[in-house]
Amino acid sequence: MLEIVNRPYRHIEVNRIAGSLGAEIEGPDLSQPLPDAVLGEIRQALLENQVIFFRGQKLTPATQLAFARRWGEIHLHPYMAGMDEFPEVLEIRKTPADKKNFGGSWHSDQAFTAKPAMGTMLFGVEIPSAGGDTLWTNLYLAYESLSPGMRRMLDGLQGVYRGDNFSDHDGKTRKEFYKGKTSMKVVDPGQTQTVSVHPVVRTHPETGRKALFVGGHLHYFEDMTQAESKPLLDFLMQHATRPEFTCRFRWQSGALAFWDNRCTMHFAINDYPAETRVMHRVTICGDAPF
Ligand code: SIN
Repeated sequence: MLEIVNRPYRHIEVNRIAGSLGAEIEGPDLSQPLPDAVLGEIRQALLENQVIFFRGQKLTPATQLAFARRWGEIHLHPYMAGMDEFPEVLEIRKTPADKKNFGGSWHSDQAFTAKPAMGTMLFGVEIPSAGGDTLWTNLYLAYESLSPGMRRMLDGLQGVYRGDNFSDHDGKTRKEFYKGKTSMKVVDPGQTQTVSVHPVVRTHPETGRKALFVGGHLHYFEDMTQAESKPLLDFLMQHATRPEFTCRFRWQSGALAFWDNRCTMHFAINDYPAETRVMHRVTICGDAPF
């Protein structure tokens, strides 16, 4: 377990962008192979701030992948096809022909798989002139700010997480939802596990802190009905996304966000109906939550 010590940074500059989470990092050129000392400080900044941002980067799918591979193996999306030449890179594209966007509800990535993604790197390729920002929320704070009684109850609870459980999909499966839309390609998940049971409060394997593990994929609580689960789920989602737990990032082309799915949720804002937004996403494998 990595101990968080407030060491000064020697290789990077870290500027927090909000009170609860999020920091912009200055210094590294992510297209270059970075020395371990720089990577160590980036890891420290990620663990301290949960989501970090780099601007002015010149990344191709190949160099973005090379940077991502320094953090672990690449997690493939069970439902969405990657780029033809780079299957590990998911192009998130929304054009004026698309009404809904990808990622437009609060979630952490691939929470429904047996080993949800540890981290995600999202690179801005084409950004609307206004809009298309992304929000993140701090799930450590969401857990720690609950009453002791609620924390005790949640500590023993398991949740059922489903890949096809998305409130903004109008009750449709992903396949039905994306049918006839050309901007993103859906694939059959095949044998990949897309329904998993995980603890609703998870312990971060590197910081040892507990975080509320809720999000759009959490369908109901184990040993309860969906009707019994719903009021508590609604409360937890509303609580976890209180504005004071969040940060918001204004994208530019050449910006990269790197977030820790083990202690955050995120939400892509759909407020640019007449413009195109293109992002390249790479997701890094994680562990089974405990
Ligand atoms: C996602 O959910 O990974 C997409 C986030 C975004 O496009 O801002």
